[in-house]
Amino acid sequence: MSEKLRIAVFASHGGSNLQSLIDAAEAGSMSAEVVLVVSNNRKAFALERAKNHGIETLVISEKQFPDENSYATELLTRLQQRSVNLICLAGYMKKIPKKLLQAYPRRILNIHPALLPKFGGKGMYGKHVHEAVLEAGETETGVTIHLIDEVYDQGRILAQERVAVNPDDDPDSLQKRVLKLEHKLYPQVIARIASGEISLE
Ligand code: GRF
Repeated sequence: MSEKLRIAVFASHGGSNLQSLIDAAEAGSMSAEVVLVVSNNRKAFALERAKNHGIETLVISEKQFPDENSYATELLTRLQQRSVNLICLAGYMKKIPKKLLQAYPRRILNIHPALLPKFGGKGMYGKHVHEAVLEAGETETGVTIHLIDEVYDQGRILAQERVAVNPDDDPDSLQKRVLKLEHKLYPQVIARIASGEISLE
């Protein structure tokens, strides 16, 4: 992309992926800046992480509005005020309103802790993903970074990386190994988008 990337990260909980993006931006290893952190959950630790780095935060949830349209309008206004040109979902548990999908076509990324299209879709979040991978007897799993369109977990895949499932893994150990890979891959993919190596067109 020719313009400098101005990223909004959407996160509902801990925000360790958010942290990896902030760190990479500060270190200059990706030509992008995290300019806004959005959460539906005012207790999300992701908000603390943002504040620690002087990044603006927005707590917003559809419940605060009479309907989806007024919620989406407010969210969009806030993104536009910060000139956001890329949205990175990182453990964001809410649906992205249609209006936002239309305003940011091919500009919303998500990270998923498995090799999509396997282990994606409804109910496949957090530890459930790793439990399902173990139950299926998989010998490898990984990380997927993909675009978001109107069907969750089904947009174009931008990058995938694999990691072994060990015979003695439990969901915790697997989650830890996958998360480590997530922290490496997300900033890498954004750096490649910023340099034009990955095209979003
Ligand atoms: C990650 O595993 C991510 O792939 C998934 O949600 C988790 C978020 O973790 N979408 P964190 O909040 O970034 O630590």
